[in-house]
Amino acid sequence: MGQPDATGRFGDFGGRFLPEALVPACREVEAAFLDAWHDPAFVAEYHRLLATYVGRPTPLTECVRLGERLGIRLLLKREDLAHTGSHKINNVLGQALLAKRMGRTKLIAETGAGSHGVATATAAALLGLDCTVHMGHTDMRRQELNVFRMELLGAEVVPAGVPGTAGTLKEATNAALRAWVSETETAHYCIGSVLGPHPYPYLVREFQRVIGEEARAQAAELLPSGLPDVVVACVGGGSNAAGTFAGFVDTTAELVGVEAAGGAGISGGTPGILHGFRSHFLQDGVQISEAHSISAGLDYPGVGPEHMHLAAEGRARYPTVTDAEALAAVRALAATEGILPALESAHALAWVQRAAGTAELPTGSTVLLTLSGRGDKDVHQIRENLSC
Ligand SMILES: Cc1ncc(COP(=O)(O)O)c(C=O)c1O
Repeated sequence: MGQPDATGRFGDFGGRFLPEALVPACREVEAAFLDAWHDPAFVAEYHRLLATYVGRPTPLTECVRLGERLGIRLLLKREDLAHTGSHKINNVLGQALLAKRMGRTKLIAETGAGSHGVATATAAALLGLDCTVHMGHTDMRRQELNVFRMELLGAEVVPAGVPGTAGTLKEATNAALRAWVSETETAHYCIGSVLGPHPYPYLVREFQRVIGEEARAQAAELLPSGLPDVVVACVGGGSNAAGTFAGFVDTTAELVGVEAAGGAGISGGTPGILHGFRSHFLQDGVQISEAHSISAGLDYPGVGPEHMHLAAEGRARYPTVTDAEALAAVRALAATEGILPALESAHALAWVQRAAGTAELPTGSTVLLTLSGRGDKDVHQIRENLSC
């Protein structure tokens, strides 16, 4: 996956559509990132923290029992085993180091499921930065445990969205961008997915490409052909998928990003601009519509611009799965492999379960699936939904 063009676009998607006050701040982030990413000392410090703090490389686990049941070979890239419980920490540590290099003293973040908020609060504590996390009021309720974790880590969690709004990731991102306007000199906006104005979709993908690069090397060692047939990941904004795909985009492996049926920017959306970038969004012709998914991390009405570009070019495809299918996948992975996946990650597995043995995923295929996070944060919600 290459660089965006000079205007920050991947094909027709991306760009930088912002209030005047934020344009210089984004330009500064872009220049600082390009400088840092070419500085061996910065890259070495980032990889040192990934190894000694995050616990990378994360393993590639073969699911023998579930694979046999589905008639495929199934390998999981275990981002659930990264410190803080998801892939979000890879990006956050990169951005926190960048913020320090830019002389910033505070991180501002939005969060949906809370995984990105927890990771940001963690990195801020590690590097001695202040931290404010904006979170939709609905998400604060359904991810209560993560709110407490962020506060324990020293972050301030600010409810986003007034009563009557969905109170999810869209409102949290609005609030974080608004807060950044008045603090650009001292704060860095640490966005949690491959979303937002240029350079964020590119920068976040680069900080997540470690997933795909590790997985490619691990697959090369394990598999006779050196490559899986299919690479699968869930897509909210699309950061774990973008990082995974970055390792395989130049191979013959098929790339599959799985969206939640109620938050499917690619298959259900139309062109629009939100949160500073052009992509496809769920909208009714007048307003951006609310996304509805059991999984807070996939409850976003759009998708990162690079995924739209990959879809438009036909290099990746983006099926959807329902809440019920995701819950069934949680049960299956827990019962056959002893792994409790995050609801987000369960969407990727749900597609594999549905497609296995059909023309979409023939018997005997080898599948590499990024398990983006662990399900501890979701246990409460899983119990509520399975018992109804
Ligand atoms: C565990 C987990 N996986 C996936 C996602 C979706 O984000 P992305 O599409 O950026 O990987 C989230 C978002 O909060 C998450 O917490």
